Amino acid sequence: MADRFAFAKELAEAAGLLALDFFQRRDALAVETKRHAQDLVSEADRSVETLIRERIAKAFPKDGILGEEFGLEPGSSGLTWVIDPIDGTSPFLNGMPNWCVSIGVSLGGEPVIGVIAAPCHRELYAAMRGGGATLNGAPIRVTDTLDLRSGVVGLGSNDRVPPSAVAGMIGNILEIGGGFIRNGSGALMLAYVAAGRLVGYAEPSMNAWDCMAGHCLILEAGGKVLPFPGDALTTPARILAATPGSFDELDRLSAVSVPLR
Ligand code: IPD
Ligand code: CA
Ligand code: CA
Ligand code: CA
Repeated sequence: MADRFAFAKELAEAAGLLALDFFQRRDALAVETKRHAQDLVSEADRSVETLIRERIAKAFPKDGILGEEFGLEPGSSGLTWVIDPIDGTSPFLNGMPNWCVSIGVSLGGEPVIGVIAAPCHRELYAAMRGGGATLNGAPIRVTDTLDLRSGVVGLGSNDRVPPSAVAGMIGNILEIGGGFIRNGSGALMLAYVAAGRLVGYAEPSMNAWDCMAGHCLILEAGGKVLPFPGDALTTPARILAATPGSFDELDRLSAVSVPLR
């Protein structure tokens, strides 16, 4: 796995540089909507995913690849690269720096490698199962804050979540005297949990490419996550990640009882 880990770090940095080049000339990019007016894709997302897929296929031809823009290419090695070329397309296209390249590797659904590059911040988060988590090479840990009120919680939503459910989740955090942010990049906010900046992160429905790398980082940084259902990597699932001491409380406050769309 060490060969893939070293490769993943180099790949995330190379993909981050390509994405940064597009970011600097984002006004010239053709943008299309997908499912919803806020669900966007541009040439940048597709080109960065193509670069990542081509390099993985050349280096590890038996591995599977699942990416947001081009879907699942099954492999035969048991390992699947789970990638989001640009997480935070909305901040990216609107000129904000909160976006990242997220590269995870799953073994039977379990995250074994997680690398997240945030080029505008010059940050590279990296973790391999059993090897700890780092930010720019220095070890990171989740915060030892036990109480949701003494830190900030990241929340996310998308068009699959009814507005009333989003409002309910936010209201529950505010009711207990807590604070929340949403920066437009769920993958980056998961990395912030690993780095001890956020106490936890919750989103009612996310895809495997949004969270596989973040889950590996958080587990290796001493945090707790709701496992992504490994047998169905292409189906969205609830995301919940936090410090061990605040996980159950965030679970209660972020639970959504209405059907998703
Ligand atoms: C989205 C971001 C956002 C989250 C959405 C994701 P994208 O990913 O992570 O923060 O709330 O659920 O779809 O489309 O920017 O890659
Ligand atoms: Ca997207
Ligand atoms: Ca994403
Ligand atoms: Ca994306």
